[in-house]
Amino acid sequence: MTPLSSGTAAALNGRLRAPGDKSVSHRALILAALAVGRTRVTGLLEGEDVMRTAAAMGALGAAIRRSDDGAWLIDGVGIGGLAEAEDVLDLGNSGTGARLLMGVVASHGITTFFTGDASLRRRPMARVAEPLQRLGARIIARDGGRLPLAVIGAASPLPITYRLPVPSAQVKSAVLLAGLNAPGETIVIEPQPTRDHSERMLRHFGAALAIDDGPNGRRIALKGQPELKAADLAVPGDPSSAAFPAIAALLVPGSEVVIEGVGVNPLRTGLLDTLTEMGAELSLLQERIEGGEPVADLRLRSSALRGVAVPAERAPRMIDEYPVLAVAAAFAKGRTVMHGLGELRVKESDRLSAIAQGLTACGVSVAVEGDTLAVDGLGAPPAGGAEIAAKLDHRIAMAFLVLGLAARRPVRIDDGATIATSFPGFVEAMNGLGATIAPAP
Ligand code: S3P
Repeated sequence: MTPLSSGTAAALNGRLRAPGDKSVSHRALILAALAVGRTRVTGLLEGEDVMRTAAAMGALGAAIRRSDDGAWLIDGVGIGGLAEAEDVLDLGNSGTGARLLMGVVASHGITTFFTGDASLRRRPMARVAEPLQRLGARIIARDGGRLPLAVIGAASPLPITYRLPVPSAQVKSAVLLAGLNAPGETIVIEPQPTRDHSERMLRHFGAALAIDDGPNGRRIALKGQPELKAADLAVPGDPSSAAFPAIAALLVPGSEVVIEGVGVNPLRTGLLDTLTEMGAELSLLQERIEGGEPVADLRLRSSALRGVAVPAERAPRMIDEYPVLAVAAAFAKGRTVMHGLGELRVKESDRLSAIAQGLTACGVSVAVEGDTLAVDGLGAPPAGGAEIAAKLDHRIAMAFLVLGLAARRPVRIDDGATIATSFPGFVEAMNGLGATIAPAP
């Protein structure tokens, strides 16, 4: 355990670069490993989750290494070319790594064993196992479809058409990745669009995809068995990581912060829309395209926020940002009501409960009714002064450290080690802006 505490900060000022996008980094390693030739990836997130995926792809036969200049070089084996891993693949804390890789190996004639940490072993995998079984894979899992589990890949996988029962980019991506080694067309229909990094990157490596929006949702058709060709790429900064310094800058009086190179893919910008509605002084500078993804520098100044209603339809575009949005809502004037948060219950922790418990302990009045969370903002700093259990959840840890920077009394979290899964160097980056986050006794 690595306890940390954050106390009231003077103004936050300066510039920082957001760490590489976690979703894009996993996909870059996986698709480059399935391409023919050498791909050079710059800006890869070197967080624990992504390093687990790198190790797993290595165990399945790809050659992956970091070069002296910090770029990552991946020598792919080609679709269908993965070899059986000699040992269990341990994906640590990473739901994305586990689910995407289950898709990849489901259409290879190999058997793969998966496990993870206590958080990942609690998370539902049946949502991925179900479509992969239709494609021909056999999956043997613990009760409730949980890890550890084995995927016995299909030697002759079938293309499937699958309508997502939950809005999940991970499930969509698992099916598309499995479809890469199936003949014919693999089709995923998503009632609500989710992040499209897999689709963008599949095209980047040369796969053919047809994407159509219809009355029943978005239809994504992948032409199976393409030859993916190595193609260098630059990973944008992660908007989900940028959210922590961004909201800290809004909450700590007298702050002005610029976060450079943040991905602003429209399927990831629900938080920016919400903060703008709350009255945040926020602007996007130097909008540009990097590595096939829209990117901008974000400038934030401390702002008096007001409570708003956040519609359920927006949830897939900001699913990882609710813990820190709820912290912003605690400082805003009036009630913020966030609808459609059912998926938060199956993240690295039950985030709906973790947010409610943590805010309550910090003196904020909250209500959870079904999938809706209401936070009664004080229009002033909340008391803070609590000890928060991080529950192996990096975003809960960072969200409450941000709260402590602007609350009346310091906040302590029981374990900050989990932050390295998505934002290595978080404490140093925040303290570089003027924050006061330190090891706690
Ligand atoms: C991710 C999708 C989201 C998100 C996760 C990363 C991805 O999960 O919460 O952090 O990279 O596809 P779901 O697709 O399960 O909602």
